[in-house]
Amino acid sequence: MAGRQLKLGIAPTPTGGPGKNYQWLDPEIPGDASVDIDWYIAQARLAEEAKFDFVFIVDSQFITPDSPPHYLNRLEPLTLLSALAVTTRHIGLIGTLTTSYNEPFHVARRFASLDLISKGRAGWNVVTSGDAGTAGNFGLDEHYDYDTRYARGLEHIEVVRGLWDSYEDDAFPRDRRTRLFLDRSRQHALNHRGEHFSVVGPLNIERSRQGQPVVFQAGDSEQGRDLGARTADAIFTFAASLEAGQAFYRDISERAVAYGRNPDEILIVPGISVTIGDTDAEARELERTQGLADNDFDAALAEFGRSFGWHDFRQYDLDAPFPDVLHHAERSFRTQSERIVAVAKEKDLTLRQTVELFSGPPRSPFTGTAETVANELQRWFEARALDGVNIHTGHPAQLRRFIDEVLPILRERGVVRSEYESDTLRGNLGLPIPENVHTRARREAADAVPVA
Ligand SMILES: Cc1cc2nc3c(=O)[nH]c(=O)nc-3n(C[C@H](O)[C@H](O)[C@H](O)COP(=O)(O)O)c2cc1C
Repeated sequence: MAGRQLKLGIAPTPTGGPGKNYQWLDPEIPGDASVDIDWYIAQARLAEEAKFDFVFIVDSQFITPDSPPHYLNRLEPLTLLSALAVTTRHIGLIGTLTTSYNEPFHVARRFASLDLISKGRAGWNVVTSGDAGTAGNFGLDEHYDYDTRYARGLEHIEVVRGLWDSYEDDAFPRDRRTRLFLDRSRQHALNHRGEHFSVVGPLNIERSRQGQPVVFQAGDSEQGRDLGARTADAIFTFAASLEAGQAFYRDISERAVAYGRNPDEILIVPGISVTIGDTDAEARELERTQGLADNDFDAALAEFGRSFGWHDFRQYDLDAPFPDVLHHAERSFRTQSERIVAVAKEKDLTLRQTVELFSGPPRSPFTGTAETVANELQRWFEARALDGVNIHTGHPAQLRRFIDEVLPILRERGVVRSEYESDTLRGNLGLPIPENVHTRARREAADAVPVA
């Protein structure tokens, strides 16, 4: 098997995610693509032909009329991924489900089902929900505060993993002769009574070929990083520069070691956008013009409130200093809001300038000729600023150029695979299959018995 290789994912938000309010005007994007399963199947197959590791479906459960088009009208991730599971064979299928508004039993059961339907290709992206308004859709007056959100998140993951091990791999003899369907000694109740969840178990579904679904984590606060380092197989993040990526990578590795984990078993996967042109200058210009076409100031101003609990910034004087609004972010996307406020303060920006800075055309490090983009990806990968990338697919022509022009260069250099190594997500990501905890306990107990 080849050495370490760059992992590849795509995150399709066809009609336009945050900051892309007019992406859907692209003539190649059907206006209803975000609810069109055929569109997703075509994307997943395209990515699978190019030997991507996974398709990632982001999600949230609170919208306003100012939410980006893709968020306004979209399919529930696990339902969507189940359809992809039966129309693809190798590519991993990762979906976001929040620990704040789902019971662990539901989450465990749904991902275990996807894992069996896909024959070992499921992945769970754990989030705690940054949209404070989600509370109102689930019978709560207020979203959980950060400490509670992440404490629930940790306990939630532990319960889900416990439930996934309800059956040992040899639990079902299904012996027609002896009429033995279940070996009762291999079925395990959980009997969890914790601070946030009480779950008796067992879960009514067996493990898949990859043992358990892969657990991703996304959340960048201190609490979020701790949760990822402590529990996750892989982490979704963002990286503004190679140095920022390296710092994040080191930070997670150190936290993982402190939790007694092997940091090589946690993959760091930032989301990136890619723009390719015939020359570096042409690519930069395309990035700028497309960025301007994909958004306008009014849409950006309206959407700007999202990380501050959808606070309405349209009420302020655009040319006055950035307003004092951080308290609105307390139970929302606080980490992101703190970053915005810090930059506005440091650079002494008005509201207009702040919105323009954060929503203006992006300057991605992965913009240039195919060769430039390939070089940058390889450089970041080798410098351990990342283990893989999660490509936010925007305009279809650009995804095609990435697949047709950048990947062959990386393949030639051995940076990405030419063929799938495995047909499970864990196998392709190079992650170990977790041994069932009960099997391990029995094995260890047997090993401990002195031989007479
Ligand atoms: C790279 C990244 C991707 C995320 N994706 C989602 C998502 O798909 N759905 C969601 O509700 N929250 C998502 N989040 C938000 C986190 O779940 C978290 O609730 C939010 O960022 C606030 O927590 P934080 O301050 O720890 O980042 C994402 C966060 C990051 C950093």
